[in-house]
Amino acid sequence: MKIAIFNVHNWERDYLESANNDKHTLKMFDTYLSLDTVDLAKGYDAICIFTEDNAAAPILDRLYELGIKFVALRSAGFNNIDVPYAQKLGIRMARVPEYSPYAIAEFTVGVMLALNRKLVRTHYRIMDMNFSLNGLVGFDMNGKTVGIIGTGKIGSVVTKILHGFGCKLLAYDVVKDQSLVEKYGVTYTDLDKLYKQSDIITLHAPLIPKTHHLINKESIAAMKKGVMLINAGRGGLVNTQDVISGLKSGQIGYFGMDVYEEEKGLYFEDHSEDILQDDAIARLMTLRNVLISSHQAFLTDTALKNIAKITFENLECMEKGSPCENEIKQA
Ligand code: NAI
Repeated sequence: MKIAIFNVHNWERDYLESANNDKHTLKMFDTYLSLDTVDLAKGYDAICIFTEDNAAAPILDRLYELGIKFVALRSAGFNNIDVPYAQKLGIRMARVPEYSPYAIAEFTVGVMLALNRKLVRTHYRIMDMNFSLNGLVGFDMNGKTVGIIGTGKIGSVVTKILHGFGCKLLAYDVVKDQSLVEKYGVTYTDLDKLYKQSDIITLHAPLIPKTHHLINKESIAAMKKGVMLINAGRGGLVNTQDVISGLKSGQIGYFGMDVYEEEKGLYFEDHSEDILQDDAIARLMTLRNVLISSHQAFLTDTALKNIAKITFENLECMEKGSPCENEIKQA
């Protein structure tokens, strides 16, 4: 099969080549898939894309005209594809629903600890020979209430880790996982109670119309003053301006942000020579109680191996015309 791989980053190139093992003809592009770049797919059977590539209807139309039959996502989330439209065109799509929930869950808990114990701040102080402890007081995680929104593959691992810390666990999900209740003492509740009672809130629900800006002015007002909010889900789960207002007023005490609504064109790139044009992230960067990472929660060796391996398995399965367990379908 001839596969055009869009938006390839240096850190994944070797994993993709190694998983392919010279089986398929690969062409790696470092550009995003967009209306301007879609014609790069000419002459290929399939394309492979990542979270920031745009597979909206007009782009799918052009892919269809170019004879693209399969779209393989190197990610779990697929909010960047117009799924019903691709289905209408008969383009089959697959994703990597699980490559290492541990990678994201462990990172999420790492961010909680780094914010709580002010690890970044202390490191920079010490680099400046300042060994003072003033302003570095944290809190015991043991006994704190953590609200987990979305207890799927990632949220359930977060639950398991935090149970080990001795946290009280509240959860909200449209589907309850009874095993989390039994094994880790999770209490499923409604969002209002979760907001009201949680010291830490962590987001692991998908970005869908229902969850877009789930965290907004009203939900922030319903939270405990000084709450820690972690978003390693998708940027659009939070209204960034409302979070900035919450941080300025002290209603939000800490914010861990691995994903950002406006990350496209900013994240994954070196902009150290550029003038920052995004005023929202510029404001967030001034706050010591905000920890920003560049959509890297997934970035472990295990995860990258699995993503590459499953991506090619998905493509081969679709090429054979077989049912594919990772196929993206909308009822
Ligand atoms: P999953 O599908 O296993 O779990 C998602 C959970 O959210 C499910 O239990 C589902 O019932 C629940 N959910 C659906 N609608 C909801 C709603 N309206 N309110 C609350 N819960 C709702 O997915 P998984 O693997 O746990 O991933 C979760 C999200 O994490 C992905 O959708 C993706 O956006 C994000 N992610 C972030 C990564 C990163 O590097 N920062 C990497 C991988 C995924």
